[in-house]
Amino acid sequence: MNASDAKALPIGVFDSGVGGLTVLKAVREALPHEDLIYLGDTARLPYGTKSPTSISRYAGQATAQLQRHDIKLLIVACNTASAVALDALREQMGPLPVIGVVEPGAAAAVAARPGGRHLVLATEATVRLGAYRRAILDRDPLAQVDELACELLVSLAEEGWNNGVIAEAVINRYLDQLDQSSREPDSVILGCTHFPLLRETFASVFDPAVSIVDSASTTAAAVRELLQKLRLGNEQEMTGDLKLLATDGATRFARVGGQFLGEDLATDDVTLVDL
Ligand code: DGL
Repeated sequence: MNASDAKALPIGVFDSGVGGLTVLKAVREALPHEDLIYLGDTARLPYGTKSPTSISRYAGQATAQLQRHDIKLLIVACNTASAVALDALREQMGPLPVIGVVEPGAAAAVAARPGGRHLVLATEATVRLGAYRRAILDRDPLAQVDELACELLVSLAEEGWNNGVIAEAVINRYLDQLDQSSREPDSVILGCTHFPLLRETFASVFDPAVSIVDSASTTAAAVRELLQKLRLGNEQEMTGDLKLLATDGATRFARVGGQFLGEDLATDDVTLVDL
């Protein structure tokens, strides 16, 4: 394939469900001329409570599906899959580039609060593997990192209960497990694709000086930089195409996913695939 053919190929994005649409939204804003193909593995959501063996297998199968669509780059828009399977997915993609969401999120937190105390809120699997802790301490050995699994917040975001007393009470119930100093971080990292929807509620339960960081815009910036470096940016003048694939529940994907993407989706916009 010649270089201009490669530039015209789509970027593949995958997540365990609709959460990665928060990353897709940022990528579309940063790179409006790129064609994008998004796969949500809704049949097997959530990944966050599964074993590393299952998560790696699911992530490998989702990547294989996107490889069949001839992608030029893969974005692993799922913190759990990034934490567990990024190295294996890089191997699977061969020479083609793979970007996860953990590294860009960690970089953003360190840049916002150098030498600071960071509180990572994520799924059980992401916390268990300590992926954010490693990524932060690699960049800033003076940082302090606390990690807290908040599984129920995934369901709250899917239900659209992002604001109000219930969301606030659930977040506080999780934070009650922390000692006082961990409850007063310099930055809070939203280490799960669903949590940016609860951003306003997080902002209301922490001191206004706390920096609330998510991976979406930093991942999009990392993708833009990489495409420039590899001279792989799409040169078309039209707005890029968006294809949405899911492994189950096209109607629910459209309803809930629309909230994550910030635009209305119809059932017909979503194609069901089997992995
Ligand atoms: N997408 C997952 C993440 O960012 C959250 C949902 C799940 O557990 O599958 O970790």
